[in-house]
Amino acid sequence: MEVIIRATLDACTSIAATIVAKHLRERKCPVLGLATGSTPERLYAELIAMFRRGEISFGGCTTFNLDEYVGLDASHPQSYHYDMRTKLFDHVDLEPSRTHLLDGCSTDLRAECRDYEQRISTAGGIHLQILGIGANGHIGFNEPFGSLSSRTWVKILSRRTLEDNARYFQDRNDVPRQVITMGVGTILKAAHCLVMAFGRQKAEAVCQMIEGPVTARCPASALQLHRRTTVILDEPAACLLQHRADFEWIERNKLPWQRYD
Ligand code: F6R
Repeated sequence: MEVIIRATLDACTSIAATIVAKHLRERKCPVLGLATGSTPERLYAELIAMFRRGEISFGGCTTFNLDEYVGLDASHPQSYHYDMRTKLFDHVDLEPSRTHLLDGCSTDLRAECRDYEQRISTAGGIHLQILGIGANGHIGFNEPFGSLSSRTWVKILSRRTLEDNARYFQDRNDVPRQVITMGVGTILKAAHCLVMAFGRQKAEAVCQMIEGPVTARCPASALQLHRRTTVILDEPAACLLQHRADFEWIERNKLPWQRYD
């Protein structure tokens, strides 16, 4: 894994935006995997700003979101459909028919999962997958102890994630317990994974993901098996890493074309 640690959220965001922009500029039909939640919010705001300055375009780009709550329709303010529309899609030149999200209200969720895998495959696979990480090490909504080779499936949220995500709902009992998510195996098929983690509450999970064993106890640790994963951390999220000096050594010795900033 390539680990990049920066002192400020602005510096982290700038590197993440540079990576996304590179994919948008260099590929004719880029396919992005997108995450929701608080972690990518600044990145999406920066991409909108870059689009408005004429520095990037999403024309020709296809997107696939990681996950959705079961039972929330696209107009529900806590749905990830709504989140993506308000935080990115409505502000850039993405063709709506090329933005794919899982339908958590499908009457046949298993068919929806199969169809999503098919749609990713028809698009030619995901070039860049943006990821956050849960405090318990989940990626997408792949909670601890699930399969590390799973494909898009329906999962039950852990109590920890229910608690963490309750902040977005009026009543904690309103948080859906079922979700539909790309599997860990789906994520691992992306050509490049970009994980961002900010804040002390992510430090244990980050440490397990990068320095711990590959284990279903921390689904994000499966990214150690991925051929190209970049992790961008702020100082609090990086504070438990034991091998920070090694990551900094690698960064200092990169060739110019290997650098993002
Ligand atoms: C969201 C997703 C989740 C989040 C994770 C972190 O689409 O797949 O894995 O990335 O729960 O959430 P935040 O960013 O809100 O801390």
